[in-house]
Amino acid sequence: MTSLSRRDLLLSGLALSASTLLPGSIQRSHALLARYPAPEPAGALPPRERLLFDFGWKFFQGHGSDPARDMGLGTGQGDFAKSGEFWFSTQKFDDSKWRNLNLPHDWAVELPFVRDEEQNSHGYKPLGRRYPETSVGWYRRTFDIPKEDEGRRIVVEFDGAFRSALVFLNGYFIGRNDNGYAPFRFDVTDFLRYGEKNYLVVRMDASFGDGWFYEGAGIYRHVWLTKTDPLHLGHCETYIRSKLNGNSATVELGTVVVNEGIKAEKFELIWWIQDQNEKALATVKSAPQTVGPNEVATVTASVTIPNPALWSPEAPNLYSAVVGIEAPLPRDAERITFGVRDVRWDPDKGFFLNGKPVKIKGTCNHQDHAGVGAALPDRLQAFRVAILKDMGGNAVRTSHNMPTPEWVEACDRMGMMMMCETRLMSSNPEGMAQLEAMVKRYRNSPSIILWSMGNEEWTMMPQPQGVRVIDDMIGRTHELDPTRKCTAAVNAAFKTHFPAQLDVMGFNYNLKEHDDWHKAHPTTPSVGSETASTVSTRGVYSTDKLRNWVSAYDLNHTAWSQLAEEWWKFYAAREWLSGGFAWTGFDYRGEPTPYGWPSINSQFGIVDMCGFPKDNFYYYKAWWGSEPGLHLFPHWNWEQRHGEPISVWVHSNLDSVELFLNGKSQGSQKVQPLTHLEWKVPYEPGVLEARGTKDGKVALTEKRETTGEPESIRLTPDRTEINADGEDVCVLRVEVLDKEGRPVPTADVPILFNVTGDGVLIGVGNGDPNCQESDKEPKRSLFNGLAQVIVQSTRTAGTITIEAHTGDWPPPKLPSTQLTITTKKVDLRPSVG
Ligand code: GAL
Repeated sequence: MTSLSRRDLLLSGLALSASTLLPGSIQRSHALLARYPAPEPAGALPPRERLLFDFGWKFFQGHGSDPARDMGLGTGQGDFAKSGEFWFSTQKFDDSKWRNLNLPHDWAVELPFVRDEEQNSHGYKPLGRRYPETSVGWYRRTFDIPKEDEGRRIVVEFDGAFRSALVFLNGYFIGRNDNGYAPFRFDVTDFLRYGEKNYLVVRMDASFGDGWFYEGAGIYRHVWLTKTDPLHLGHCETYIRSKLNGNSATVELGTVVVNEGIKAEKFELIWWIQDQNEKALATVKSAPQTVGPNEVATVTASVTIPNPALWSPEAPNLYSAVVGIEAPLPRDAERITFGVRDVRWDPDKGFFLNGKPVKIKGTCNHQDHAGVGAALPDRLQAFRVAILKDMGGNAVRTSHNMPTPEWVEACDRMGMMMMCETRLMSSNPEGMAQLEAMVKRYRNSPSIILWSMGNEEWTMMPQPQGVRVIDDMIGRTHELDPTRKCTAAVNAAFKTHFPAQLDVMGFNYNLKEHDDWHKAHPTTPSVGSETASTVSTRGVYSTDKLRNWVSAYDLNHTAWSQLAEEWWKFYAAREWLSGGFAWTGFDYRGEPTPYGWPSINSQFGIVDMCGFPKDNFYYYKAWWGSEPGLHLFPHWNWEQRHGEPISVWVHSNLDSVELFLNGKSQGSQKVQPLTHLEWKVPYEPGVLEARGTKDGKVALTEKRETTGEPESIRLTPDRTEINADGEDVCVLRVEVLDKEGRPVPTADVPILFNVTGDGVLIGVGNGDPNCQESDKEPKRSLFNGLAQVIVQSTRTAGTITIEAHTGDWPPPKLPSTQLTITTKKVDLRPSVG
């Protein structure tokens, strides 16, 4: 038998016998690998199974202080010292009254808002110890494990869940996990019932928080069931480190082979390196070695990739490495996506990617989105990254916690650099475990350019204790990943906060101190880990404190921060500053700065909670992007302000802009770099037009027209065909149009939705920081002309029809409109039946 058929068999999961791998075999095997598309970086390959464990759960809201309403936990009916007694995770328990749902799930976003200032930073949701009746959730899933699985190692893996998980299986307590962001896993091999039904129960308790922002509640990331041979690759132990030397890259490969069997095993490890077209580039096979029972073996190798296609935001070229154990039959394999790129931080010249200076044009982001809270379908990650890329952004910071894998994958695939941050700045076991989980999980991702040890730990940073803590954290990070630098997001007195510890200084705000710090630390590179905190409400053009609105002109920031134009001018003028991360890309729930109730989300975003751009988006797009840009605002519907001067702004990177009102010139202005243009124009209805000139020719024009009243509803989907996999989503923009078909920018019409066919509505939003309408009900008022609806496919291919109408809600009565999208049959991700 040739090695070609061995590889094919390995991929099809069948048994086979040993032989030597021939170079030609790789060419044919890549077609089989195509079944495992790039989005899954640690993709399982047969004989390993990695099953999505998201579908078919039951949910029940428990209680944080009354055991009678919390499965009797803590009353003797549930005693952690005893074994096998947790009746709610046995066949005796009837969960038929529990609610059916699929994961990811965030119950916080379903809760009503409460007017309680202590809940302000968490988005006024009733979570915490004072809200026991809404802070605990129980999840239950019944599933089969075939008899043939006996002898395999089986692990339940959570990508992250909020918070304090207690996990039970078949009556046994399996384990706990406290924090809300790092992944956790339990080997359940011993506790499973083979050839029978199994009962998994997870109690989540959001009574405590990890942060000062909206964090969600429940199993809000994916769950997996992974089955391997007892001889398997260590979890997240595979690393791939590429180093560019002239025209070629040396790739260091390493992994750990774990033997959980009862006898010693002789094995060989094989690495197959492929480019993104799945063309085979190299194969390395280790010398045979033996690993004893309950022992691990570390295996390393290296390959050279001549003329590698480098990864960058403009060209996110990826490679993959398949690593497999043969002993001599295939026993385990995984596929890891990686990139080849060179990153350098220079104290005087800033950040370099692949040898070229690149200014970091970044945004900090929390993880929630309109309609779905913290439980984002994977597709929404790409949706959000695309918006930030469209703005000209080239980097994100995962403030202030370990991101979900799908966000990192979207950045790898789409070309967005990432500063990846852990939640807990601590060298205690919990802090180190979170850090290790993050670094091991993501160290192969080319998007990650910097690890962050934490954010603004005011007490710890100036203390000797803090210095020891961060020394330990950075030391461990470098051990696990010698290729990347470490930073921390430092606020306040930079001088006293880790000056000698950080590889790259992270400045939060305090622009006045940057230059002095640089003079005093001429050998330390630096980045603006957090800047801006500019505040604005989309589509609002005068600050109104009674309505909790902030004008969307670039005029408002908090006491500690700057306008978009201020911070970016400062950073752009200093070569030594590597660029920075604006707080924030997207609005997020919680921290309703600059107001409080009834505001329930922040107003820091450059785009709102739905991703609809505020006007500052176009400032960044003009000066961060590479395309000619011209953006004119405000809208031109100012009926009550006839004759009054209106501030008209333009963000443009052209040479000059001339403004016209109803065909009459209001004057031409030369564009100054990184600066907006401004006119005062007495209002009269009609057409406001900006004409932008480049090299003496009109290059771009933009108009704002006075519109009429709403006459119809328009639905615009981000895609007209999505996957029928029960996971994919279509994001719809909802607007109302006047009789000439122009969107009405001031409309606040309430719209009802009726979703039928092979899909369901999973959330609605409108970007209004003060809107307390439900995220989950099929209705939403427009806010300044816009709303968003998110619909998700089922696993049946067909169509989804979204009807929008005004129902019995107050006038205006608009005719119903309908839109149908297709859901196409696709190979489903392997999942637990
Ligand atoms: C920073 C903090 C962020 C956010 C921001 C608001 O100091 O790191 O999490 O609170 O302020 O401006």
